[in-house]
Amino acid sequence: MAVDIKTESDLVIMRQAGKYAADVLEMIGPYVVEGVTTEELNQRCHEYIVDKQACIPAPLNYHGFPKSICTSVNHVVCHGIPSDKALKDGDIINIDVTVIHEGFHGDTSKMFTIGEVGAQVKRLIKVTQEAMYTGINRVRPGVRLGDIGAAIQAHVEKNRFSVVREYCGHGIGRVFHEPEIQVLHYGKPGTGLTLAKGMTLTIEPMVNAGRRHVKLLDDDWTVITKDRSLSAQYEHTLAVTDTGYEIFTLRPDESLEEIRSF
Ligand code: MF3
Ligand code: CO
Ligand code: CO
Repeated sequence: MAVDIKTESDLVIMRQAGKYAADVLEMIGPYVVEGVTTEELNQRCHEYIVDKQACIPAPLNYHGFPKSICTSVNHVVCHGIPSDKALKDGDIINIDVTVIHEGFHGDTSKMFTIGEVGAQVKRLIKVTQEAMYTGINRVRPGVRLGDIGAAIQAHVEKNRFSVVREYCGHGIGRVFHEPEIQVLHYGKPGTGLTLAKGMTLTIEPMVNAGRRHVKLLDDDWTVITKDRSLSAQYEHTLAVTDTGYEIFTLRPDESLEEIRSF
């Protein structure tokens, strides 16, 4: 299949799907505290998505994934499965939310910290968000995916962290992961797919404090760092516009002006 170029009416729906996904991260923030279990966070998000938003939580039963969100704690890189394990002081967690609204997906994630975390941990989280913004900021027609990956990689490695290679951003729309667009978070400028207006994709770098290598646990979902170092991730869903990009999953705590400075 060729890359799916969204029409203006597709984009109207994706804008709303993105807003719903962002709203879930806003809603769950106050509950991400010491003592809460990731399963409680999952249940709250599930109920909000289904009852308040009349959307579908895309992860639930996706290739057999058993829950409605991904919760990736500390050295978990991605696809952490909500469980009855409680969050404790000093933990970091990525919550990844994907909703389906009128047949279209909105996919976004952010980091939360529990209580006090150290300066290096804060730096890991900040650099990961900046890496995502750096990638987003390159997006416009004519730019190639390798340009985006290279920019993300450069920002991460300049800060002496490492980029996970095995998982990438993706085309998104009626399909959760459109295989025609794979947004590697590393690479070479001037290589890969050329972006065009109407493409919709995610940028979602996973950044490790230690080495880049990962390992899949026996549950066949949970991905951890091989060296058990901490890992962080941020994700947005965006569209390529005439002159740049539109972020569908932007939250009120984020400033477009700041994003444009990266
Ligand atoms: N939300 C993840 C992504 O960003 C995918 C999760 S798939 C699941 O692409 F099955 F693990 F939920
Ligand atoms: Co995604
Ligand atoms: Co996601």
